[in-house]
Amino acid sequence: MTPDFAALRRRFPVLERKTYLNSGSYCALADSVRAAINAYMDDRLAVGANWDVWVMKNEAVRAAMAQVLNASADEIAVTASASAGLNALASAFDFTGPRNKVVVSDFEFPTNAQIWHAQERRGAQVVHVPRAADGYIPAEQFARLIDDRTQLVAVTHVCFRNGARLDIPAIVGLARAKGARVLLDTYQAVGGLAVDVKALDVDFAVGGMLKYLLGTAGIGFLYVRDALVRELVPTNSGWFAQEKITAMDITANRPSPTARRFEAGTPAVVNCYAAEAGLNIILEAGPKAIEERVRALTRRCMEGLEAIGWPAVTPRDDARRGPMVAVPSASTAQLFEKLSAQDIVTSFRDNNIRASIHFYNTEDDIDRFVEAMRGHRAQHHAAA
Ligand SMILES: Cc1ncc(COP(=O)(O)O)c(C=O)c1O
Repeated sequence: MTPDFAALRRRFPVLERKTYLNSGSYCALADSVRAAINAYMDDRLAVGANWDVWVMKNEAVRAAMAQVLNASADEIAVTASASAGLNALASAFDFTGPRNKVVVSDFEFPTNAQIWHAQERRGAQVVHVPRAADGYIPAEQFARLIDDRTQLVAVTHVCFRNGARLDIPAIVGLARAKGARVLLDTYQAVGGLAVDVKALDVDFAVGGMLKYLLGTAGIGFLYVRDALVRELVPTNSGWFAQEKITAMDITANRPSPTARRFEAGTPAVVNCYAAEAGLNIILEAGPKAIEERVRALTRRCMEGLEAIGWPAVTPRDDARRGPMVAVPSASTAQLFEKLSAQDIVTSFRDNNIRASIHFYNTEDDIDRFVEAMRGHRAQHHAAA
């Protein structure tokens, strides 16, 4: 059944005032997320330290995140950020043997390259898969660099600069053929696309709750495939990563048998409230239905931009696109300001204006954006 997207949209008050195309930076705030944050405040006033409830909130986030990814709760670490999850994972890898290579792509968000470069001091060798002449990175480019020395292929699902979606099944196939593992940075995808870690057959996945997952900053997740959890012992650790959090044993490190071993200290309680409420909206609408809606809206945006003679740099092929459409401009900062003055909220990176689209956007939102772009074309169009 198709969700009632119009009713869902009414739960995001900012959408009455703004054409909000910025979910790839920070989502619109839902009434239920705001209410959840307020519930935490009420709890603090009424009870003070309500630890039993708060610990359960962290578990609720774990369970909801697992459901969104089609994983089990024991495969999810609730982290402070995507970077925190990556660091905990990296700390569990051994780069001193012959398999010391980490393959990343030129589409990575900085953190998913910098953290692997940081492992060079521990023996890692990081190689970057370059773009092809058309700006995309087809799987063949990966085939040249994934080899018997590759321990990990760490790639983004959707590029934060241009909205291009990598061919993850093909990349996973190449990695498997060489005995390498795959980490997927889902941050620009999950919540806007259906990300099924089992169907994609990735070993690890990271992301966070402030964008398409409709929560807040300061909370993220790391998925670790069940079969790998016990063999990976992070040296980034803490008391919330222990088998028994309440043991308070200072004589040894006894990591949890689940992916909780990749956590560290006290959870960000208020963020758990917000994240749970956001994830529940995604689950209520359904990741697959959201993906279909987002695909139709991004396609409309791409076609509209083509019609005004200002095509996006984002791939046209639906299978190669995420929830964001990136439009090249010679003067992104000024264009961003002009759009903001028209109550159209976007963002920009490099030479692209980014319109990031969620299920709560409408055809009218897209048409308003395209029409505004038509008005700015003469002054801000980029010579490609
Ligand atoms: C693709 C991608 N990965 C990682 C991050 C950063 O994650 P965090 O700040 O939670 O470490 C972002 C944030 O914009 C992102 O877009």
